[in-house]
Amino acid sequence: MLSNFLHGNSNGTVTPHSMHQSPDASDSEMAADKATTSAPKQSNPPPRRKRIVVAMTGATGALMGIKILIALRRLNIETHLIISKWAEATIKYETDYHPSNVKALADHTYNINDMAAPVSSGSFKTDGMIIVPCSMKTLAAIHSGFCDDLISRTADVMLKERRKLVLVARETPLSEIHLRNMLEVTRAGAIIFPPVPAYYIRPSSVEDLVDQSVGRVLDLFDLETGDFERWEGWKKE
Ligand SMILES: Cc1cc2nc3c(=O)[nH]c(=O)nc-3n(C[C@H](O)[C@H](O)[C@H](O)COP(=O)(O)O)c2cc1C
Repeated sequence: MLSNFLHGNSNGTVTPHSMHQSPDASDSEMAADKATTSAPKQSNPPPRRKRIVVAMTGATGALMGIKILIALRRLNIETHLIISKWAEATIKYETDYHPSNVKALADHTYNINDMAAPVSSGSFKTDGMIIVPCSMKTLAAIHSGFCDDLISRTADVMLKERRKLVLVARETPLSEIHLRNMLEVTRAGAIIFPPVPAYYIRPSSVEDLVDQSVGRVLDLFDLETGDFERWEGWKKE
């Protein structure tokens, strides 16, 4: 019996069973052993809502960030919003919204300097992040890994945790530095989504163009806004 325990079964191989229990142990011993080793019952945590971090920076196109927040709200996605100082300025200049109205569209908002916010840690589970619009300055911060504000820190967390990071990077024309930064963050796992319109939708307003970009960004998260026309081949009159 002892040799069985030390050396395994009769053919000399050590199996989990032979290590765990000698073959002639009594039924009551086995039952007691089973009772002490069986895993405690765990209640499953309730499923949480899908959770997306939205960051707005000071590139032009504040309306895109606002429309993403509205669409996510309609889709019952939990949103965590960070707005940079220059995004606040462009929101005021380019739209009829005040930054406080934009913040009211999100479930949670954080100050850009709050490096202790939940989203700054990988242990806070999220389903990804969209930076919309994304300035070349924030792109450069993400590229370098120099994360001295909550937007670049949270983006850094997305990359290290292998979560989805979409940068609606906006500038024109693009310098070699911008292009290099875009290539390298793409290699690190980010998705560069320049807000380039699809002219085949024959937009009749800026809103149409923005809705198409918003819909295509949310496609990347398997979310359907239903707000834009998809290409389904040439239309027959
Ligand atoms: C009206 C306005 C429009 C701007 N548009 C852009 C732009 O399209 N792309 C960009 O990279 N920077 C743009 N900038 C410059 C950024 O706001 C600036 O680089 C800022 O430092 C970005 O900081 P942030 O990324 O922390 O918001 C714009 C600035 C202003 C005032």
